[in-house]
Amino acid sequence: MTAEMDASKLMKQQVGKAAADRVQSSSIVGLGTGSTTAYAIQFLGDRLKSGELKDIIGVPTSFQAEVLAREYGIPLTTLDVIDRIDIAIDGADEVDPQLNLIKGGGAAHTREKVVDTLAAEFIVVVDSSKLVDKLGSTFKVPVEVIPMAYAPVMRAIEKLGGKPELRMGVKKAGPVVTDQGNMVIDVKFDSIDNPAELEKTLNNIPGVLENGLFVNTTNLVLVGEIKDGQPSV
Ligand code: 5RP
Repeated sequence: MTAEMDASKLMKQQVGKAAADRVQSSSIVGLGTGSTTAYAIQFLGDRLKSGELKDIIGVPTSFQAEVLAREYGIPLTTLDVIDRIDIAIDGADEVDPQLNLIKGGGAAHTREKVVDTLAAEFIVVVDSSKLVDKLGSTFKVPVEVIPMAYAPVMRAIEKLGGKPELRMGVKKAGPVVTDQGNMVIDVKFDSIDNPAELEKTLNNIPGVLENGLFVNTTNLVLVGEIKDGQPSV
């Protein structure tokens, strides 16, 4: 493992722990997707096991989160049997100064948007590499699309000025398939001046299920950093 990978892992662990520490007993917790949230799920499991935290129930945002939660002993529920989510913890691929996000690096943004926006408190956990001045500078906008519509959706996105690319899986053997059985188009925009408008415009294209722009969804982003050689939040 390189020193850079080590530092990134330490920051993710630290921030995942900081988020897990904010969860109180008897909470219903939205469980996000990705490598940073995976640490939060692990630390929630540790707190449950030690008895320090009691009676939490998780709402997973993906199959990955569901499997991890089961592994770490977190009981799960679904949205049809609960009427609230107290707190959600989730990662992001980019965070701008207004705390708008790009998500969907793990192709889970549709369920993530449902769960994260239902939560009374949505905590975003990132390492410092995710902070950007403007959304779209380092990451493309993921757009989940139903398979039969991927070609017209790509053409519609080109007309909006975006450069669409169908997300391919390992060794490009086939397209990435979401938990809903759909495909993901990653879109490079030269400049995203109005994320709120772009979020709506993309979702208005027939065949699009949801895109990875999260606008005004959080007011708490925990950032893992390395300070004086030590990880901190
Ligand atoms: C998955 C996501 C993830 O939260 C995002 O990609 C960040 O992942 P990681 O913590 O592994 O960097 O949006 O759809």
